[in-house]
Amino acid sequence: MTTLNFDFSGKHVFVAGGSSGINFGIAQAFSKAGARVSLISRSADKVAAAVAQLTSTGAQAWGTSADVRQPAALESAFAQAAEKFGPIDVLISGAAGNFLASVLDMSPNAFKTVIDIDLLGSFHVVRLAHAYLQKPGACVIQISAGQAFIPTPYQAHVCAAKAGIDMLTQVLALEWGAQGIRINSIVPGPIADTEGLKRLAPTDDTLSAMTQRVPLKRLGAIKDIANMSMVLASDLGAFITGTIIPVDGGLALTGPRDFSAAAAASRQEKT
Ligand code: HXC
Ligand code: NAP
Repeated sequence: MTTLNFDFSGKHVFVAGGSSGINFGIAQAFSKAGARVSLISRSADKVAAAVAQLTSTGAQAWGTSADVRQPAALESAFAQAAEKFGPIDVLISGAAGNFLASVLDMSPNAFKTVIDIDLLGSFHVVRLAHAYLQKPGACVIQISAGQAFIPTPYQAHVCAAKAGIDMLTQVLALEWGAQGIRINSIVPGPIADTEGLKRLAPTDDTLSAMTQRVPLKRLGAIKDIANMSMVLASDLGAFITGTIIPVDGGLALTGPRDFSAAAAASRQEKT
């Protein structure tokens, strides 16, 4: 895959939910391009490992354990990050949780848990980050999902949460545009070697069916999402705000997905 030579030297990139998977891949890409990276997630061990991996290449990186459901912890993380690396040039909001369950198999607390992490958590992240964003010039990227606009059985919680996130993106593009802050959502398709995909395609059969469904006939790579993040945050994205951008090999065009086999497989795994 071609790699553009982005230069984010001296820029501060903050990644919420940045200790693994797609979000960590984004952190790595910005770090390789010279950025100073701050990241948070719940697990102190995962954060420490991610920061160690970034700094092992000589990059500047810092992180702390914080749950996006806890505004006080987030506020403290933003204040510490700004103290270390200055105003935030690029904010990635990507903390999320998911599991397959029908509405009738989902307790009110199960539904609420995903809403609290994905939607309310994103609200806390972008709202509390605002004081620390570079104005003008900051770029905010929310990591959404196709469930935001494709009604998907067994995913009612994620559908509701990610739809809310994309609406938040569009409202904030209007509210913050005059301050020179841009905000967009990226909609990853199924991305290989991630926890998210493992939960939606837990067996070889379901993974193969998912791959065949993608018009480009391959799974996405974490790099695909990192590349789009860097395009949006660079001068190439300077006039782009309030958009919802699928990076999914065309999957969003194929309509509602059928997760009943995957749901049955993960139910079987649990028993
Ligand atoms: C039904 C479930 C369930 C399941 C949990 N619950 N798993 N209900 N089916 N498989 C219920 C619990 O019983 C409980 O309800 C409630 O949800 C909260 O569960 P906890 O375990 O207490 O929550 P918590 O510790 O906060 O963990 C959150 C989590 C967990 C979402 C449940 O899986 C997690 O931490 N996930 C983070 C990693 C992750 O999911 N990564 C993938 C992101 S990908 P009760 O009523 O019993 O109290 C993504 C997908 C996008 O977002 C699309 C990809 C294509
Ligand atoms: P992942 O590795 O599980 O990433 C989720 C990250 O969020 C983890 O670092 C996790 O770390 C953190 N997190 C979870 N709950 C949190 C909380 N309450 N507070 C703070 N951090 C929290 O999964 P992924 O598949 O790479 O997903 C990354 C993003 O891409 C998500 O927004 C997901 O919805 C989106 N997405 C993924 C796919 C895919 O194919 N994988 C497709 C579409 C969209 P801790 O456990 O340490 O908290």
